[in-house]
Amino acid sequence: MVGSLRPLFAVLLAAGAALGDPETPVHVDGAPPSKIAVVGAGIGGSATAHFLRQHFGPEVQVDVFEKGEVGGRLATVTVNHNDYESGGSIIHSLNLHMQEFVKQLGLKYRRSVAGKMAVFNGEEMILEETDWYLLDLFRLWWRYGISFIRLQMWVEEIMEKFMRIYKYQAHGYAFSSVEELLDSLGGSGFINMTRRPLSDSLLELGVSQRFIDEVIAPVMRINYGQNVSIPAFVGAVSLSGAQNNLWSVEGGNKLVCSGLLKMANANLLQAQVDSIALVQSADSPQYELSFTTAAGTRSELYDIVVLATPLQAGISSGIQFHGFTPPFDERPGNYHSTVATIVHGYLNTSFFGFPDPRLFPYASILTTELPDLFFNSVASICPVNISTGYRRKQPQEAGVYKVFSQGPLDKSQLKSLFRSYYSVQVTEWQAYPHYGSSQGLPPVELHPNLYYLNGIEWAGSAMEMSSVAAKNIALLAYHRWSRQMDMVDQKDLMHRIKTEL
Ligand SMILES: Cc1cc2nc3c(=O)[nH]c(=O)nc-3n(C[C@H](O)[C@H](O)[C@H](O)COP(=O)(O)OP(=O)(O)OC[C@H]3O[C@@H](n4cnc5c(N)ncnc54)[C@H](O)[C@@H]3O)c2cc1C
Ligand SMILES: *[C@@H]1O[C@H](CO)[C@@H](O)[C@H](O)[C@H]1NC(C)=O
Ligand SMILES: *[C@@H]1O[C@H](CO)[C@@H](O)[C@H](O)[C@H]1NC(C)=O
Ligand SMILES: *[C@@H]1O[C@H](CO)[C@@H](O)[C@H](O)[C@H]1NC(C)=O
Ligand SMILES: *[C@@H]1O[C@H](CO)[C@@H](O)[C@H](O)[C@H]1NC(C)=O
Repeated sequence: MVGSLRPLFAVLLAAGAALGDPETPVHVDGAPPSKIAVVGAGIGGSATAHFLRQHFGPEVQVDVFEKGEVGGRLATVTVNHNDYESGGSIIHSLNLHMQEFVKQLGLKYRRSVAGKMAVFNGEEMILEETDWYLLDLFRLWWRYGISFIRLQMWVEEIMEKFMRIYKYQAHGYAFSSVEELLDSLGGSGFINMTRRPLSDSLLELGVSQRFIDEVIAPVMRINYGQNVSIPAFVGAVSLSGAQNNLWSVEGGNKLVCSGLLKMANANLLQAQVDSIALVQSADSPQYELSFTTAAGTRSELYDIVVLATPLQAGISSGIQFHGFTPPFDERPGNYHSTVATIVHGYLNTSFFGFPDPRLFPYASILTTELPDLFFNSVASICPVNISTGYRRKQPQEAGVYKVFSQGPLDKSQLKSLFRSYYSVQVTEWQAYPHYGSSQGLPPVELHPNLYYLNGIEWAGSAMEMSSVAAKNIALLAYHRWSRQMDMVDQKDLMHRIKTEL
């Protein structure tokens, strides 16, 4: 996501989370499940395996299926002997699950290397960071009046409410749907925010149209490749990521996924799951997964299955469902294509109105909504391993840049953005939901003991959202299995947790 809009939204938030509180003890009646399957080894599936192990204990077998690379949308590409994030890159300091994973796995934070940001409107830079924080504040005030203060307060309030999830989860509470989860955090206001456009919410707050066009739209373009018509909730998630205190994982964010799988002692199967068939038995259903490995096709029975990959048609998990009534297959809706082009070369600073690259002071360039512009953002990027003496390359030197665009860039487009280049690497992502047509939030429980993680992306797509969903599903699966109904969809949790302490 966006490198940093530090001075724009520098806001200090109170971290009131209670991670690591003891679990509410629960009595398990009936036998434990013997086998659990997780489909997908991105951050969602890996975190699910980890939390399932925490809640179900050491005995249960946890099989994790991955048809591609562990990490999924967390991935790196190698340029000139260094690795760079090509998918999900930025983690917020208040993303407490991600933080906890990194701590438990003994991984390191990758410090961010200072670099200035600017917004380009197709002709000139309309907004620039300076070295002087007060000057930036003054300029924002001058240009946008009260808008950015209103925005800060709005984002802060949403973040504060969102952070209640860590307390609820630490106390063992689970939710049977994304709506229930959001409702417990922010009431109907949060659910409504998943249904109305960001621009409407902001205009209602009194944020000016100019501020929306010149600041909000560029942030939505770099973070979600979409415009200010995306729902207000995901917009707020993405604006919180435009604050300070951003970090990533030394060595690559995907190390969290492989680390969690190892820590969970999960059994990783390099296999594509082809189908899931419902097998009715005496009291609870079982699921037969058929899957293809390099060695051929096999199938296995599971008591609990978690699908940790999008089930939209366009993205093609390729999973068929058999024996379910009513039948279900794909979820409605599409994923948005975002192309990450990583270029090793010389930026054409003339393109931005700076014929002399030595006078070009920016590391990240965001853009306003322009019909003819062929890219969403360009940023000088740093490798996933940064040595102590590391400094960012100057624009007159060859450097590594990441361009986000909606479609692949052609030669002439590359030639207009770069004076010359040594290498170009293209990753075409089905990156995040294509927000828009409101089809509602997908279910978490598809069938008894069959769970779907990625519905949460329709509220907001980010590593932390997948991690929150992972913890929720592990808790939900556990409570359903042990028939602890009083731990699911409970109302007035803020109050209950206070009295429990
Ligand atoms: C370009 C880009 C930039 C982003 N920037 C950020 C950012 O800065 N910060 C942030 O927090 N988030 C960011 N995100 C979003 C973030 O990367 C995702 O929300 C998150 O990684 C999703 O993880 P997941 O595990 O839920 O899904 P995925 O990572 O998609 O994992 C699903 C896995 O399931 C596997 N799979 C699918 N079908 C099958 C099958 N049939 N059998 C076996 N395996 C299967 C897939 O191969 C995949 O590995 C970005 C995403 C992209 C693409
Ligand atoms: C959310 O929308 C519903 C239905 O439109 C409405 O009744 C409710 O008051 C709204 N909630 C908030 C907090 O705006
Ligand atoms: C945003 O994009 C969608 C198409 O993805 C379009 O329908 C909508 O009108 C656009 N909204 C704005 C404010 O540009
Ligand atoms: C990069 O960082 C990771 C994690 O700290 C480490 O395991 C790896 O060896 C490092 N690689 C290089 C080339 O320094
Ligand atoms: C760089 O950008 C300028 C201005 O858009 C353009 O005229 C020129 O052709 C571009 N390419 C190179 C290699 O300078």
